[in-house]
Amino acid sequence: MTKKMVALVTGGIGGIGSSICGELAQKGFHVVAGYHPAEEAQAQAKLKEWQAAAANIDIVSGDVASFSSCTAMAKAIQQKHGAVQVLVNCAGITRDKTLKKMTEDDWISVLNVDLNSLFNVTKQFVDGMTDAGYGRVINISSVNGKKGQFGQTNYSAAKAGVHGFTMALAQEVARKGVTVNTVSPGYTETLMTKAIPVDVSQQIVAQIPVGRMAQPEEIAYVVGFLADKRAAYITGVNISANGGLFISF
Ligand code: CAA
Repeated sequence: MTKKMVALVTGGIGGIGSSICGELAQKGFHVVAGYHPAEEAQAQAKLKEWQAAAANIDIVSGDVASFSSCTAMAKAIQQKHGAVQVLVNCAGITRDKTLKKMTEDDWISVLNVDLNSLFNVTKQFVDGMTDAGYGRVINISSVNGKKGQFGQTNYSAAKAGVHGFTMALAQEVARKGVTVNTVSPGYTETLMTKAIPVDVSQQIVAQIPVGRMAQPEEIAYVVGFLADKRAAYITGVNISANGGLFISF
């Protein structure tokens, strides 16, 4: 029996992240869901759920905003599961405020978790992928990184930066069998969007041509497609799944 490929999903117990874990497990990957050390209880509960469903998903703790924490997380994964072939950088936070009200901490926290994490995490695994001659890196951005969003200067800047990282790294590792792509979800039904004030949320949904928010599974499907071996010729792209909220080339 050949060993299953290992997929790490950061933010793996979150709304979109846990759906991505489910999709990848269904596609035959051995999945590891990363979670923030402060979310131990939620992660254990999620693990129980996955175990009850016989899903091939384990959990690992690590703070994506900290390089040293990511180094420790990578070591733990290597020891327990072996080399990682698929990395999904999905961990993200919001601290929505107009720039007028935004504090330095609001800015730095979002930039650290949503953008600097790409360096902190990807750096741990990409050399292993290029050495092995195979890998998939999939970075989760947002429609708001493409169009900007009122109240999200921090988040929009970080999410726009995600695709800059993708485009540059894609060129560096293409010859070694590693693809690097971005998926930009639109508004998706998760705890993150539940935090938007109801009146604002209704105004946003009214602007979505499809007429509703996405389900997390609709985002996970795109990630599963890019993670497939057969997606070998797709690299450096940014695939939108935003219900038509921002239509562009
Ligand atoms: N465009 C223009 N003006 C707007 C506006 C908009 N979209 N929204 C509000 N305003 C105006 C208001 O009418 C008000 O004007 P007046 O002062 O003249 O009355 C003013 O801006 C309000 O400014 P405040 O600084 O007082 O804003 P607030 O404190 O009421 O709320 C906010 C600001 C918290 C950012 C709130 O607007 C909000 O939560 N917006 C949603 C942001 C959002 O979409 N977040 C996405 C989260 S999910 C996610 O990020 C996932 C993903 O990838 C999609």
